[in-house]
Amino acid sequence: MESILVSGGAGYIGSHTVKTLLDRGYKPVVLDNLVTGHWQSVARGVPFFQGDIADSHLVRRIVEKEHVSAVIHFAARSLVGESAEKPDLYFEENTAKTNRFVSSLLESAVKRLIFSSTAATYGIPEEVPIPENAPTSPINPYGFSKLMIEQSFSWLEKAYGLEWIALRYFNAAGAALDGSLGEDHIPETHLIPLILKAALGQREGISIFGTDYATPDGTCIRDYIHVLDLANAHILALEALGKGIGSGVYNVGTGSGYSVREVIETARQVTGRTIPVVESPRRPGDPDRLIAKVAKIQTLLGWSPNYSSLEQIVESAWTWHLRHPNGFE
Ligand code: UFG
Repeated sequence: MESILVSGGAGYIGSHTVKTLLDRGYKPVVLDNLVTGHWQSVARGVPFFQGDIADSHLVRRIVEKEHVSAVIHFAARSLVGESAEKPDLYFEENTAKTNRFVSSLLESAVKRLIFSSTAATYGIPEEVPIPENAPTSPINPYGFSKLMIEQSFSWLEKAYGLEWIALRYFNAAGAALDGSLGEDHIPETHLIPLILKAALGQREGISIFGTDYATPDGTCIRDYIHVLDLANAHILALEALGKGIGSGVYNVGTGSGYSVREVIETARQVTGRTIPVVESPRRPGDPDRLIAKVAKIQTLLGWSPNYSSLEQIVESAWTWHLRHPNGFE
């Protein structure tokens, strides 16, 4: 069994990827500092190390002890608003610490790396759907912290032979189909979990941030991608690297978008609950439309989404919220 180190494996996308790795016969090993992750989300029997990606002694020890052959690197801060208030925190936690992490891996002769990147690297797109070769011009420090890492990888590839794939996620959403894992952020800022908390009666309603965008119903359009489809993309990327596809950047989205109002309407149908809406001012930094061009990942990695209809996304997230109304306790 191939041993894959998953940094941030106790987080939202990391924990679903660990589950998928187990299902596919890999041996995942989790490194997570539990600052935002949840120990309860790490599957039983999976080796778990609580610690920091910048702790090179620990990283080298894990690689040796667990015979790690490749890494999927999720560990990061990911709140856009927080990044605008504390850019230095994001440059340290995401960019600088990833640099130290990758140095430790290379010292231990681990050269294969899949990296959790984001559509926030593009900023406000000139062209939608957004192709991978679109200009990168992030409008928040979070996107910039991730873009710097992507760019650093090219140099590490030239100097040390790092083999890397960066997956630029669009809007990760949904939950494990059995309701065992799901999204539990503190604070929660994402649209779908906030809508479902309103459906549960834990919030008075959902605020729509802006109703005057240049979209058919005036609300922002996003490309929602099921977390299980994201997890699968990581495994296909890992396998493609192993077969020598070479390093690069790939979008992960569906190629279609839904407006905020469409998401709320779908949630009303799926839950059968009342979801009160408050029309609020725009949130700073939200582009009208973010939709991925997905030809590259479909053609080169043979990836396509299986769970990402809006209904499946909202249904699986609703199952999680009903079973875990207070998240991982
Ligand atoms: N929205 C609301 N009300 C809310 C929360 C969100 O109307 O209470 C709207 C937002 O304005 C946006 C849409 O719902 O138009 C989606 O918002 P999210 O906060 O769920 O997601 P974002 O599109 O802002 O951001 C996500 C990830 C980021 C990533 C970005 C890149 O959370 O990490 O996608 O595509 F950078």
